[in-house]
Amino acid sequence: MKIGIIGAGYVGRALAAMAVKQGHDAMISNSRGPHTLFSDAAVLGCKIGTIDEAARFGDIVVVAITLKHYTAVPVGPLAGKIVIDTNNYYPQRDDAIEALDNGSTTSSELLAAHLPESKIVKAFNAIIMTHIDRDSQPTGSFDRRALPLCGDDVEAKRVVSDLYDQFGFDTVDVGPLAEGWRFQTNTPAYCVRLNKEWLPKALAEAAR
Ligand SMILES: NC(=O)c1ccc[n+]([C@@H]2O[C@H](COP(=O)([O-])OP(=O)(O)OC[C@H]3O[C@@H](n4cnc5c(N)ncnc54)[C@H](OP(=O)(O)O)[C@@H]3O)[C@@H](O)[C@H]2O)c1
Repeated sequence: MKIGIIGAGYVGRALAAMAVKQGHDAMISNSRGPHTLFSDAAVLGCKIGTIDEAARFGDIVVVAITLKHYTAVPVGPLAGKIVIDTNNYYPQRDDAIEALDNGSTTSSELLAAHLPESKIVKAFNAIIMTHIDRDSQPTGSFDRRALPLCGDDVEAKRVVSDLYDQFGFDTVDVGPLAEGWRFQTNTPAYCVRLNKEWLPKALAEAAR
């Protein structure tokens, strides 16, 4: 599968490396342009491109940027595509976003409103990227780590769940995109190593 990645920080690079390891073709991009990613391509074994090129390249496209810049994600090239939203809201980094502070929406619903023709799946946001390799285990391993996802498109969630499995994780489907608050920052399920038996319990304990 071709995986385009918008953002080439900790998340973009870690997911590109894992994708390549699993036999996928990945392209990373950032705000400053591919000339700033020259060595990353060699180290990660992925392609580099502009944001627009990464958006067009991917069968699936990952958004892994500082949340406050989400409106810079190109709309047209992502129409009809599965978009994985890894972003989290940190007011001290992203500035205050009132609709998130008052709980009237979630960060992934903001991205979905910006990309109305894309199939948004909130995934890979609740694991620290240095743990992607550490916690990855083959399918069926005892006490395998589970990761949450949510989204409104059932087929898109199935595809991302397959990716979780290939990358070494079980899936807990939390439901529609609006349920993403259950595994955002400062919730019991956020970036905690839990298996598929315990993760639903932590998700159920989340308070909005
Ligand atoms: N770090 C983690 O372990 C982790 C885990 C899960 C989720 N997350 C979330 O995932 C997102 C990315 O985190 P990160 O740790 O990878 O951040 P990071 O290391 O700060 O990297 C951010 C990346 O986004 C790019 N970017 C910023 N503004 C952009 C724009 N307008 N257009 C395109 N690219 C832009 C930056 O490119 P330039 O440098 O060229 O501006 C950089 O490559 C955040 O929302 C974070 O909260 C992080």
